[in-house]
Parts: sequence; structure tokens; C-alpha cells
Amino acid sequence: MNALIDRISKAYDEVPYTSAAFTVSAPEHLRAVAHLFGLDAPVPERARVLELGCAAGGNLIPFAVRHPGAEVVGIDLSPVQIDIGRNLVEAMGLKNVRLIQGSIADVGQELGKFDYIVCHGVYSWVPEDVRAAILRVCSERLTPDGVAYVSYNTYPGWKAKEIVRDAMLLRAGDRAAARERLAYARGIIEFLHEQAKQGTVLSTVMGEHIDMIRDGEDYYLSHEYLELCNAPCYFKDFVSDARAQDLEYLGDATVATMFASNYGTAAAPALLAECGGDQVVLEQLLDFLQNRTFRQSLLVHADRGAKIRYQLAAERIANLHVAGRYAKDDTGANGMVHWTYTGGATVSTYSPVTSEVIEQLNAAWPATVPVAELLSTCSEGDTDRVLELVTNLIVGNAVRFRSEPVVPGTLGDKPAVRPELRKLAAAGDHPVVLFTEWHQPAKVAPMERFLLPLLSGDVDAEQLVGAVQQAVEQGGLRVTRDGETLTDPIEVLASIRGQVNSALDSLAVNAMLCASPVKAEAASATPVGKSVDKASPKPAKAANTKAAKPTAKTEAPAKPAAKPEAPASSKPSRPPRGKK
Ligand SMILES: C[S@@+](CC[C@H](N)C(=O)[O-])C[C@H]1O[C@@H](n2cnc3c(N)ncnc32)[C@H](O)[C@@H]1O
Repeated sequence: MNALIDRISKAYDEVPYTSAAFTVSAPEHLRAVAHLFGLDAPVPERARVLELGCAAGGNLIPFAVRHPGAEVVGIDLSPVQIDIGRNLVEAMGLKNVRLIQGSIADVGQELGKFDYIVCHGVYSWVPEDVRAAILRVCSERLTPDGVAYVSYNTYPGWKAKEIVRDAMLLRAGDRAAARERLAYARGIIEFLHEQAKQGTVLSTVMGEHIDMIRDGEDYYLSHEYLELCNAPCYFKDFVSDARAQDLEYLGDATVATMFASNYGTAAAPALLAECGGDQVVLEQLLDFLQNRTFRQSLLVHADRGAKIRYQLAAERIANLHVAGRYAKDDTGANGMVHWTYTGGATVSTYSPVTSEVIEQLNAAWPATVPVAELLSTCSEGDTDRVLELVTNLIVGNAVRFRSEPVVPGTLGDKPAVRPELRKLAAAGDHPVVLFTEWHQPAKVAPMERFLLPLLSGDVDAEQLVGAVQQAVEQGGLRVTRDGETLTDPIEVLASIRGQVNSALDSLAVNAMLCASPVKAEAASATPVGKSVDKASPKPAKAANTKAAKPTAKTEAPAKPAAKPEAPASSKPSRPPRGKK
């Protein structure tokens, strides 16, 4: 191992990266994007998936859990992270995951070929020879109809971020301990933020970054800004390096970023005229327009390039399964209805057809609805409008889409969570983040965390209330209102019941339940009514759950944790790499 690689490995051993599902890198999503742009890609159920720089496997494990017939392999330099991952894989009983400690540079034909290769948050942070190896492995190890995903920091956005990184590196100097380096590095950004002359480039850059430097998690800042290597590049240069390895650009994992129409009616025609039909030139121009800092590019073998179609074809849209959740605002003038997608985009419409489709999606959430079903249920003559609507939702980043249905569980009498997820939730402190059926990282509230290991599909809400009551009686949890511990048994029970119900609702709406009870043995999930202490992990210290009454809470009696957990399950636990 050369000295630089050795130092990178030690940096991740010292401060392991929080390892989480990254939604748009899910092979199911890559297949759907390929489909959208005219290419068929392997079915996920039996796919072989390789992740380069997998850390502790947090992006591979959710896929392996969803598809026991698939085979996933991860490779990472850091022995500490690989050990954490292996222990969790064993604890979860996963037989289809292999985590290898080693360098991407050494990957050869011994691993075989893969239908999907994912490399998230690595390319820009490794030396040039490893960057070349990432593209080489994508080219050599991808099956003929496979899809690779590579994310990286980009210019021009990173030009400004480099000022931040350079200042932080200067101040961190050659201090050895990661924590100390970061403390010093943060200090100079505070100083520059205070002292920069108003109206200068420096003051703008510091103003844009100060909150993230103050509030960002240590692991993220250490690796994003103080990493030994950070080599952002222009998108066009990335594509040119990929082409040199016989790969072709397929599209961006967030497809909405690829369409000029999303950048305003003034800019779009000029951009389209300028790029002359060249998608790479168009997207490079768009990167300038948005000062883009981060990309997630999908690659295929060069010989498939001629089949890629960026014009979205109705027959391909009709084959998709779509899902979305929208808030309704019908207070607009003249019957205008505004539907706001959870991702942020708003659909404003007078059309009953549009509202009917969105209501169908809302009713099905978090499951998908086949576009074919939307078409078959709309009035005759409206099919073109429905197809156009679905196309616009995809282009506008206002719907999720897949080639196969996604069917998370509904609440029912006895809610169920996959046994592997229950075991992961029960495994205590580790850097692998819980996940949803939509391949999202899930940060759960303490009551949800308490309940997760118990949701075997064999217990109903009242039994869960009993388990919480027992934990309260045994001193493992306490129920509070305005900081005071509740003691009146009737109040305690009412509070617990409310909290259990709202936690179950939250798990359901955030796609953490599974479709049908999976009865595999869950080692750490002791039957409800035995010992709650053994059956469930300790709830995160003093982080409050949602209360039935606004001020009543259930808490662990331990001392407060430094950082309470955020309550929203579907909220990413960290920003996408490079996007903070
Ligand atoms: C920023 S982390 C990203 C981890 C993970 N992909 C994610 O996004 O959560 C970069 C990872 O790449 C790994 N890495 C760096 N150089 C490597 C190499 N030459 N071979 C294999 N892994 C490497 C590091 O150990 C680290 O786990």
C-alpha cells in the first residue's frame, strides 16, 4: 500500500463515515432511469451489485435485504469500517453480502462481472490512480447491459468551496488528531466570516458556508473539507475520462437536473440552441447556470450509447410504476389547486384529471401505482393528458418512478418490519443508518426505535403499548410532560397509547413497514410481554418522542444526549455527499 492510500485508510479508521442508503443510487432506480432513456437493464431480484468505497455497507445492505436472491459485494480500504459492516451483516443474518477490505485499484477479474456498480462519494476524494481505477473497474466489471453510478464533486460550484477547504486545511495544519484539526479548521471560517469585507467574494462564500461549518456533523466535515484528496472536475471532463474507458454517459441519477425546461423559459431556448443536441454540452452549461457542486452520473458500455434517447417516449413512461405524496391547497382563485410534492415541487392545476391522478397517488402512498392503472382508470380521451402529466412529474422531480412496483407494508392490525431491519435497529450504536423500503436513510424518533425490534407481524398496537408500559415500570423509559415525570397511571397510559399510535403511523408513512409479515427468526426480538430491556434497544438518550398531548413525552431516564435525533423518518440523516 502506498503512503497516501495508507493515510486515507487511517483517516476513515479514525473517523468512520456514517454509512447510509443513498436513494438515487439504488439499482432499482438505475434500472428505471435506463428504461426512461431507452435502455433495458438487469432485473434487481437476481442482480450482482458491486459498491466501490462502501464504508460499512450502509448503501448495500438495504438492497441486499430487499432482494435475497441478489448478490452484493462491497470493497473499502478501511479495515475498521469493513469490520463494522461484517459484524452487522452477520447479526442481521444476511447471506448475500460480501464485504472486502482492499483498494479499488486492485479489483480485477476475480470478482466477476456486475449488473450494477455503485461508487458514491469516493471519486473526488481519492488520488488520480484510484480515480482511473474506478472508471476502469466500471468498464471491465460491468455486464453488457449493466449500469454504473459514480458521484463526484464538480466545478464550477467547487471553485468557491475550495476557498473554504483551503482555509480549513491551512488552519488544521499538521495537527494529528482529527477532532483537533476540525476544531481549528472551523475557527478560521468563523474568523473569515466575521472579518471579510462586505460585498467581496470572500464574504459571499463565507456567508454561504458558515451555517454548514457550524452545524455539519464532524465525520462529514472532516472527510468533505479536510480529506487528503479532493479533486473536483468539470462534468465534461468526467465524461471524457469515462469515454476513454469505453463507457458512455447515460444520464444523471436525478433526472430532473438534465432538462433545460426546468431552468426557465428565458434560459431554455438559448441553452438548447447552444448545445446543438449534445446532452453533455447542455448539462455542462446547466452546471454553470446553477454553479453545480456535485453530480451523480450513470454510465453504460460505450456500444450502448447509440440507443440512448433523451426524448421521453410515451410507451416507456406507460410501463413505469410511480409514487408520490402531495399536500393539497385548494384555496387558489378560480378553482386552481396547488399540490406540493414532499420533495418540494408544486403542481398547480385547474384540471380535474391532474387532481384525480394525484389523489390516486396520495391514496396509494408509500406504494407505487402502475402508470397502466392510472391510464385504465382515467376517462376515455384523457390518456394522453395522464401520460403527459406523468412525464411532466418525472421531468419536474415531482414523482418517484420505478420499473417494478414498490409495495411497503400498511399498518394493519399487526404491523411488520423486515427481520433484518429489526436486528439492525436492535444492534445499538453503529454508523450504519436504518433504511426505508424506498432505499432512503431513516432517522427514527426514540419511540419508533424502541418499537422497531418488536414489529414482527405478531403483535398488535395494544401489545406494543403493554411493552412500553412495562419498560416504563422497569425504569427503562419515563413519560414526561413539560419536563415533569407523569405518575398518574391513567395519564401515563393515555400518553403511551398516543405515542405508540403516532410512531406506528410514522413508520408506515415513511415506508419502514414490510408488505407481509416476514417470519424469519429475529434473534434480538424477544416476544412482547417478556423483558422489554432485552427485547429492544435502549431508546436514544433523552431524545423526545412525539407526544399524544403536545407536551407529554416518553424519555429514557439517562442523561441528555448532546444531539437529540431529528424526528422525521424520511429525512436524510445527512446531506448527499458534497451537497451540504
Ligand atoms: C466519503 S466515504 C464514502 C462512503 C460511502 N460510499 C458513502 O457515501 O457513504 C469514502 C470511502 O471510500 C473509501 N476509500 C477511499 N479510497 C479507497 C480505495 N482506494 N479503495 C477502496 N475504498 C477507498 C474510504 O475508506 C471511505 O469509506
